[in-house]
Amino acid sequence: MLRAARASSSSGAEPPRPILLLGSSGRLGTAFRRALEGTCRIVSSPGASLSEPGCAASLLGELRPDLVVNACAMSSPRDCLHDPAGALLANALLPRGLAVACSSLGIPLVHFSTDLVYGGATPPYGERSPCVPRSIYGWTKLLGDLSVLSAHPDALVVRTSVLFGEVGASRRTFSEELLAGLVGSVHVDSWRNHTPVSWLPGAVMGAFGAGARGLLLVAGLHSLARSAFAEMLFAHLGRTDCPPAGYRPPGVPEDLSLDTSRFARIMGDPPDPFQAFGIEYPQESPSTSARNLPV
Ligand SMILES: NC(=O)c1ccc[n+]([C@@H]2O[C@H](COP(=O)([O-])OP(=O)(O)OC[C@H]3O[C@@H](n4cnc5c(N)ncnc54)[C@H](OP(=O)(O)O)[C@@H]3O)[C@@H](O)[C@H]2O)c1
Repeated sequence: MLRAARASSSSGAEPPRPILLLGSSGRLGTAFRRALEGTCRIVSSPGASLSEPGCAASLLGELRPDLVVNACAMSSPRDCLHDPAGALLANALLPRGLAVACSSLGIPLVHFSTDLVYGGATPPYGERSPCVPRSIYGWTKLLGDLSVLSAHPDALVVRTSVLFGEVGASRRTFSEELLAGLVGSVHVDSWRNHTPVSWLPGAVMGAFGAGARGLLLVAGLHSLARSAFAEMLFAHLGRTDCPPAGYRPPGVPEDLSLDTSRFARIMGDPPDPFQAFGIEYPQESPSTSARNLPV
């Protein structure tokens, strides 16, 4: 059942108990493997098997990991629209089964979710904000979050936003799509807290280590229009082929600006993750730039 195991320990004294990572082939899963490499033993498992009754419990009982990280999801809203049953399985039923098994065995769980559980009309969104998803993806992820927290109240459920950065997984991050010329136009009327994918695992593990449990928003500190983000990225790289600006299609939430102050309090006001990449924000306030929409 176990797909891959890699072990490493700098001391070499005792083999560390593993971290079970689900979704290890994905964008975030790949970043997690890289971030944790050399610090712990990571075991990847095909997540689909965990939706079968009893499978999660027997796998976890056999492995007894120190921690389970669930980065597995049907992450494309379009895929979820075409396969709602698959979305329900991957985004809600699988996390629920995992949470039930982890809780009964006393194993900590970190589960990932999305800002797309929010509606986009009443920003900024915090941990206590009401959720009104606009997509099957958002609804199934919300169901997953609620099921995980109900089955395992000590789990850490992390909602994040658009992942960017080079990760080289089979699916591309937003910046990888942009730079590969795969984005036709960038929305001037959709605001998100773009999040460096290579920063997120360390940030979440740091918050987990500091005792964070329950629901937590972890994302880039500032909300930017998709167009402003793209322009900033192309300027940073000295490229002039940024896609043209356009409007979001129906169903895409307008403003999913996140209030990440709980994360900031837990981590003692951490530096802005964009700084680590040397990226300069636009001159105006990042949260308001590009709000003057083209006519
Ligand atoms: N990408 C973003 O911009 C973004 C933004 C906000 C939140 N998030 C959240 O971050 C988490 C990770 O997203 P991601 O972008 O890394 O996703 P991803 O690149 O699509 O990777 C998803 C992973 O889940 C696995 N998976 C999908 N369906 C499965 C199923 N039915 N059974 C078992 N495994 C399955 C995939 O395996 P295969 O490779 O074998 O298909 C892959 O390893 C998700 O919770 C997502 O909601 C992502």
